[in-house]
Amino acid sequence: MNNFQFYNPTRILFGEGQIASVADNIPQGSRVLFAYGGGSIHKNGVYDQVRKSLEQFEFFEFSGIEVNPSFVTLMEATSLVQRENIDFILAVGGGSVVDGAKFIAAASVYEGDAWNIMTKPNQVKQALPLGCVLTLPATGSESNGNSVVTRYETHEKLGFFSPLVFPRFAVLDPTTTLTLPQRQVSNGVVDAFVHVIEQYLTYPVNAPIQDGFSESLLKTLISEGPKALANPNDITVRSNIMWSATLALNGLISSGVPQDWATHMIGHELTALHGVDHAVSLAIILPPLLQEMTEEKHAKLLQYATNVWNIDSGDDASKIALAIEKTRDFFELMQIKTRLSDYQIGKHDIPEILGQLEKHNMMQLGERGQVTLDRTQKILLNAL
Ligand code: NZQ
Ligand code: ZN
Repeated sequence: MNNFQFYNPTRILFGEGQIASVADNIPQGSRVLFAYGGGSIHKNGVYDQVRKSLEQFEFFEFSGIEVNPSFVTLMEATSLVQRENIDFILAVGGGSVVDGAKFIAAASVYEGDAWNIMTKPNQVKQALPLGCVLTLPATGSESNGNSVVTRYETHEKLGFFSPLVFPRFAVLDPTTTLTLPQRQVSNGVVDAFVHVIEQYLTYPVNAPIQDGFSESLLKTLISEGPKALANPNDITVRSNIMWSATLALNGLISSGVPQDWATHMIGHELTALHGVDHAVSLAIILPPLLQEMTEEKHAKLLQYATNVWNIDSGDDASKIALAIEKTRDFFELMQIKTRLSDYQIGKHDIPEILGQLEKHNMMQLGERGQVTLDRTQKILLNAL
């Protein structure tokens, strides 16, 4: 196992009725920004519950944070925070709202052009405190220090990490997820699944605890994901999915092991250029990436085939091929199509994707920097 530091300061408030605890977790006398998205929280009672919990605070609403949050919108919220001397941000919604809140928390106290937070390393020296009420299990943003923001005019979707933007608390009430449309249930399960894969499916470093956690999360998502589609009102299933998605990207399973993230980096360019949902971009890229990296990932692919998919017959090559096929089948079972051509993206679009990756310095991706532009080109060709 490699050396590591593990830090996760987010208090998890899990279960039905936990939105009421928001009030106890925001410092007395705070001036709060209540930030949310396009209005789904009006339809499932979350808005009313949050308002009630904020009764004792002076709060300001900011709605309209988009899916793949826009820099321009977030800068509007930042101006509101500065104008009204707001000192606590409460994000209510999915990963886009939570990511957006993290950017606002950092940008509000940043001197200079706030886009630098996304383009230059280690820009965040301070940030306002934030908390969240999560309504879409997927990204893990509720309990990590990552944020992904899009600048639409330049088709740039970039991320930053800072330990200063971990939410102080995250309310995970699975009943809030019952109103999710099928598309978002599918997206959430597949996003969480790929998060685990990108921290697990690299090369062995004798880390059985991390591997065991990862395999358990993968198997849970494989069993519970289709159940959530078949029985959308099953709250037990929703609870298991919600907790899986948080644990998939809260820093625990990545501690002391190599990480990949090539699928995510290539996927972000697909979303920025072609507007495909985040999870869809991952479902398209992961299978051909695993194929391309079969040699480098050989040992872990075999372990994945055996421990996650219970494949115990055949030679190594056929076990690995079957595990990759089962991975694609799982995405399709979750109602996500896995080919670029399913989204009208063709061979002629590949040079532009490669160009953006080059521009963003994404030319040596993966756990050992072996996913070069040449190999990404092959991956994209195999994704057609
Ligand atoms: O905007 P509203 O009206 O709230 O509707 C949202 C949105 O349309 C809707 N929704 C959310 N909860 C709902 C609901 N609809 C009905 N009932 C509910 N309970 O779902 C739609 C999608 O929401 P969004 O927040 O965009 O989805 P997700 O949570 O998948 O977040 C995606 C964003 O997170 C980034 C992605 O790149 C993307 O920008 N990521 C963030 C990560 C992180 N911070 O660690 C890691 C991920 O890899 C990812 O990159
Ligand atoms: Zn993701």
